[in-house]
This record gives sequence, C-alpha cells and structure tokens, in this order.
Amino acid sequence: MKNFALKGDIIFTPTPEKFQSAQDSYIVCEDGMVSGIWKELPERFSGIRVLDYSGRLIFPGLCDLHIHAPQYSFRGMGMDMELLSWLETYTFPEEAKYGDLEYAQKAYEIFTNDLRKSATSRVNVFATIHGEATVLLMDLLEKAGMRGFAGKVNMDRNCPDYYKEKDADTSVQDTWSWYESVKDRTGIRPILSPRFLPTCSDRLMEQLKEVQKKTGLYMQTHLSENPGEVEWVKELAPWSEFYGDAYDHFGMFGNHGKTVMAHCVYSGKEERDLMSKRGVYVAHCPQSNLNLSSGIAPVRAMMEEGLHVGLGTDMAGGASLSILRVMTDAVQVSKMYWRYLDQDKKPLSASEAFYLGTKGGGSFFGNVGSFEQGCEFDAVVLNDTPIKTALDPDMEQRMERAMYLSQNEHIMAKYIHGQEVFRR
Ligand code: GUN
Ligand code: FE
Repeated sequence: MKNFALKGDIIFTPTPEKFQSAQDSYIVCEDGMVSGIWKELPERFSGIRVLDYSGRLIFPGLCDLHIHAPQYSFRGMGMDMELLSWLETYTFPEEAKYGDLEYAQKAYEIFTNDLRKSATSRVNVFATIHGEATVLLMDLLEKAGMRGFAGKVNMDRNCPDYYKEKDADTSVQDTWSWYESVKDRTGIRPILSPRFLPTCSDRLMEQLKEVQKKTGLYMQTHLSENPGEVEWVKELAPWSEFYGDAYDHFGMFGNHGKTVMAHCVYSGKEERDLMSKRGVYVAHCPQSNLNLSSGIAPVRAMMEEGLHVGLGTDMAGGASLSILRVMTDAVQVSKMYWRYLDQDKKPLSASEAFYLGTKGGGSFFGNVGSFEQGCEFDAVVLNDTPIKTALDPDMEQRMERAMYLSQNEHIMAKYIHGQEVFRR
C-alpha cells in the first residue's frame, strides 16, 4: 500500500501556540510522505485507496526522545530513591543481565511488542553495554515497525565491576564492532550513547569524539538531571564551567551531528545558551523527574529561548510508555514550576505539550511529527468514543481529553513513514 488516504478528524500542531484541525477530511500519503489535507479529495487522487475513519481522531505519531529499553522490565518498581542510588540499586543489576542473549530476547520482545501497540512512532533508545544484545534490540524494534535510533551504552568508570566496560579502549572497540554490523540500517539507526559524564573517563570521551568524526554518528546522553549528579561532575571535571561545558570540552555537545541531552533540570542560563548555540536537543522527561525526585526542568525558559525541546519517557525513570501521558505530565509539572518557582514562567498549554511530543522532538528524526505537506507520514487513528461524556467538545478539546484519558485499546491504526504498523 504505497499511496492511500485516511479520512477522519485530523489534528496536529505546526506551531506550539495552537492546534490545527480539519474535521471530516482526508490526509493523503504518497511514498511515505504527507501530500496534504483536503475536505474533498482532488481529482488527481481519484481511485486512491481510502481508509474511512470518520468520527475518529487522526494525529501525528508521537516521538519519544529518550527511553531505556532494558529498564522496561522493572518499570513501575523501585521508586523510592534518587538517581545515583537508584542506578546502583535497580538499574545496573538489571542492565547487566542483557549480557545473556536469551534474557535479552525475552525482555526486548515484551518491550517492543508494547511499544508497537502504543501511539509512539519514533524513538531514541538506550540499550546496554552489550553489542550483540543491542543488535537484537534493533532487529526487534524494526520488526515492530518503529523508526529512530538505538545505541550501545558506553561506561568505563564509577560503576560496579559486574556492569562496567574494562577500559576506554575496550569500550571503543566494542562500539566499532557494533557500529560495523548496523551502520547501513535505515529503520533503527545507530547512535553514540555514553551513559553520562560520571561513568565515562576522559579517554573514553576523547575516543568517542574520534568515532563521531569518522562516522558522523548522532549522540545521546544525560545532563543536569539531579543535584548530587551535578555536584559530582564538578568534582570529576573541576576545569568545567558547568556540566554541559564538560561535554563540550570533548566536542560532544552538538558540535558535529545532532545531540540529545536528557533531563536538563538544572541547566542554568549559561548551559542553555550553549545548548542553543550548538543546536542541542533537550529531552524533557517530567514523569521520571517526579519519580526520582529530580526536580522540574525550566521548559518555558527553554522554549522562550528557542531551544529544541522534545519529550521522553525515560523508561524506567518514567513508568509509563505513553507519550500522551508524558504530555500531561509536562503540563502538570509546568504548573508547579509556575506556582512554586517562578510566576513569570506560565504553565504549558495542551497544544504546547502536544507540540513537544510530536514536532518538537520529531525534528530530531527528520521532517517528522506534523502533517504539513512533505512531512514523513506517521499517523495514529484513535477512537475517542469510549471516553465521551455528555458534553460535545470541539476537536481541540477532544484531543486534550485524549491526552489525559485515552488508552492503547483506543488506537485503531498506526502508520510510520507510510507503513501500516497495525490496523483494527
Ligand atoms: N543517568 C545516567 N544513567 C541514567 C539512567 O539510566 N536513567 C536516568 N534517568 N538517568 C541516568
Ligand atoms: Fe535516562
């Protein structure tokens, strides 16, 4: 099915300020791209296959800019700690298990099956330090129809012996072998994934920069998530002006190739200015920031300053796989930020949160996350009748309510880059 049209109640956010909608209209997909939206199909599309979803919401596939696949197995558990002890107590012991390919197969199958059923179309995934298991994960993500990036994790210091790479050279060699086996993929592409500065030696960061120079790989890591972590980076990199400056020192702050920094809760003006200058993406992960008592990221300031901001679940910091849920988390934490921290930073609106979870993060993957002409055709069809009330809301209100209340069972179809992932 190369070219087709979906008919229904179409809604998306070309800009954060407001939803754009077209009730009872057609959206046409040609060769995986959006051709346009029409109330009546133009003559040139006569004979095109039409899937009639009249009365259903049709919105762009959602983008999860930061997710840890191996942590899915302990989601919704171990929410009693802050970041650094949480990593030691729950995360590292679990991630270490993925050296066993049988366990990885079992765990990653559950993860990718669930992801397939969600409204998410694009992902930026952290795997573990294990190259082979990371390839397996990429296979399963592709089998589930997902697109995006996945990375073998690098970590060679300040982590337990049972889950640590021998040294920088070994970590980089393993990265090369993994990269060689996946470099030609177009569905799920490789991405450099140093865990975060505390677990990556200077030598490792320097060598990963060399890998990036040779390959042009994009990169993802964590930044300024937790107060204890920020203090630790000051000790580990006393020469740095701020946490992001330490990454920048190694040329790993968006200089070449796109870069995502997860969290950025404690990113002050200087750090944000450098992110803006380097075009670094922020993966805002509000649910994780609540669960790990990390804090609230200054998202309004980031948006005002023109930074690239998207949303992430940060599974299993976040327990839910749903980016619709993360949108509402983002609205809710922005209200607490405004109430308790800064009355000049007004809370996010529903359309702003929706934008972050679609086009905001989507631009990391290309022309993704919107229904404007020329965008990659990622679409979700949702039956919102089961969450209907006595009120008869307009389309914006229906979308907002779906953000708060819809479930995976309400998703009727999902398309990624024009490919049908499922339909019912
Ligand atoms: N910082 C370094 N590793 C991790 C991780 O696995 N999860 C989160 N939330 N933060 C991190
Ligand atoms: Fe994370």
